[in-house]
Amino acid sequence: MDLLFILLRLIHIFAGVFWVGAAWIGALFLEPTARALGPDGGKFLSHMATVRRYSIYIMVSAVLTILAGWGLWFMRYGMPSLGTSSGLAFFIGGIAGLIAMGIGAGTGSAATGMTRLGSEIAQQGKPPTPEQQGQMRELQGRMRQFGIWTAVLTSIALFLMAIAPVI
Ligand code: HEM
Repeated sequence: MDLLFILLRLIHIFAGVFWVGAAWIGALFLEPTARALGPDGGKFLSHMATVRRYSIYIMVSAVLTILAGWGLWFMRYGMPSLGTSSGLAFFIGGIAGLIAMGIGAGTGSAATGMTRLGSEIAQQGKPPTPEQQGQMRELQGRMRQFGIWTAVLTSIALFLMAIAPVI
């Protein structure tokens, strides 16, 4: 029981730290860089997604954080704890984490769309058509919005996790 608890805590905290950090790096650095590069931004994201497997790392860290987090919550807190400030804070943080994962899936699908469009543009061997440029702008806008929301929600979860044990 104790060993399982320690293991879940380690998985939860390592994966959670990676997830929040990656969400902010994506929102503050990677997405703006891809946007500034215009059509080449698609190639940049395509390399990051297909060669570096960025989306898979994010997805695995999000799933591990959520599964281990809810496992910990049911082991140590559970429904009766909703009447205590700590249990409730962990619960609300847990819900913020779940919503962040849902929105993160939207970021992933926008990134996949950009990757596909980027490779299409690269293969055609000529500058993107106005229609492709419009599609790229639309996908970049979606990715920016979703990326910021994921970063904000994972940070809300982190904030609540950090204060929950001491309130
Ligand atoms: C971005 C998402 C998340 C991050 C960054 C995160 C981070 C953390 C951190 C740093 C701690 C250690 C706090 C401490 O012991 O002082 C913690 C503990 C905990 N987290 Fe999360 N967490 C996240 C999502 C979740 C979710 C979705 C749940 C589900 C309810 C959850 C449940 C818990 C529980 C129950 C603990 C306390 C474990 C214990 O009593 O030792 N977390 N979390």
